[in-house]
Amino acid sequence: MSNIATLEIDGKKYEFPVVVGTENEVAIDIDKLRGETGAITLDPGYKNSGSCKSEITFLDGEKGILRYRGYSIEDLAGKSNFLEVSYLLIFGELPTAAELTKFENTIHKYTLVNEEMKNIIDGFPKTAHPMGVLASLTSALTAFNPKSVDVNNEKEMYEAVCKTMAKFLVIATWTYRKAKGFPLNYYDNTQGYVENFMQLMFGLPTEPYQSNPVVVDALDKLFILHADHEQNCSTSTVRIVGSSHAGLFASISAGVSALWGPLHGGANQAVLEMLEEIQKNGGDADKYLAKAKDKEDPFRLMGFGHRVYKNFDPRAKIIKKAADDVLASLGVDDPILTIAKKLEESALEDEYFKSRSLYPNVDFYSGIIYRAMGIPTEMFTVLFAIGRLPGWIAQWKEMRVNKEPIGRPRQIYVGEPLRDFKPVDKR
Ligand code: ACO
Repeated sequence: MSNIATLEIDGKKYEFPVVVGTENEVAIDIDKLRGETGAITLDPGYKNSGSCKSEITFLDGEKGILRYRGYSIEDLAGKSNFLEVSYLLIFGELPTAAELTKFENTIHKYTLVNEEMKNIIDGFPKTAHPMGVLASLTSALTAFNPKSVDVNNEKEMYEAVCKTMAKFLVIATWTYRKAKGFPLNYYDNTQGYVENFMQLMFGLPTEPYQSNPVVVDALDKLFILHADHEQNCSTSTVRIVGSSHAGLFASISAGVSALWGPLHGGANQAVLEMLEEIQKNGGDADKYLAKAKDKEDPFRLMGFGHRVYKNFDPRAKIIKKAADDVLASLGVDDPILTIAKKLEESALEDEYFKSRSLYPNVDFYSGIIYRAMGIPTEMFTVLFAIGRLPGWIAQWKEMRVNKEPIGRPRQIYVGEPLRDFKPVDKR
């Protein structure tokens, strides 16, 4: 492969360096394009644009490969745990036993959330969607932690990472507690991170809470599977907001908002609502498959298709098995799962889906597991956000440490040319 790409505009040739990644991904470095040619590239949805060089996550959508820091997602989901994977993503290496203990202990230092945050929560109506509340509460953490972090000071950055991991989990569960009218719970530093999620969500002051190890194991796996996915919509948002040197909480709050949309993290809620609707209307999966294929119908098969994976999403494979295991161990016989399986089977054999390389994505099965665990549907995307948090932190940190410039795309203006202003009585 040549290390130079040549571009010809109006008979004049320009040369640009070709960059090759560790996994032989190829990019044309157009950093000097506008300066040298006066032209820009136009790439709506950034389907062909790399925004950065990154050492965090590698994914090959054609082959269905996903790796964090060089470790396969299958290995990590099968052999590691969420806190260890968080450490790996954020700091680049798997922790030693001592590093992991220190990480957990430092998180424990920050698990109390300022009591005044409760006044903010009280201002939300009970009907508010938890993702909206979570975005606001995350942003509010900035007000309680106004000091900006020196990203080049290792200790400061370490403390900021632990503080974010601690407080985000607590406020994420508070969005649910508020909606239910339950008292807001405190983190229990004698228990693990994922056990804490369960007790923060479901523990009541009236009786001791015992989390189910099957549920905790499955949740841990789900968080690992969601922990990073390179430059997706919410992560790019976190990086671009942070590129203006906005703080970590403000950047993550923006990531939460980006994740909320039904084309991104909100798809896990949308999948379950779709499956429930199919069930309510008689369980005819093929009817909905036909709707999804009909260009006149805006309906899309939620949980199918992916911007990058044009093959089976490797996370969906792991989740599909986890769904079977969890439902079996919890003794849940969910008709929704039968509908999901039927939909998947039919879609995978259907020419429309095959020709467009539309496979089930990570969200197709996650909602079914969450439902079996007793997690309310409107909390599904919040769980995605908890899982994605270490990825957002890792990407924010990398962007700042690498001193990336402020993110500021250009555009091609196609509006009105210069025209004369008319006073209101002449319009
Ligand atoms: N159902 C039916 N048709 C679909 C679907 C779907 N779920 N997804 C894509 N298509 C069709 C499109 O209509 C289009 O058809 P055409 O070429 O005849 O016009 C073709 O497949 C390509 O679709 P695009 O929208 O161009 O693909 P893009 O890469 O922009 O979108 C996306 C990817 C947003 C994920 C899309 O597949 C989708 O909307 N899926 C459903 C929502 C979903 O599950 N999102 C979760 C993504 S994973 C995550 O964020 C964690």
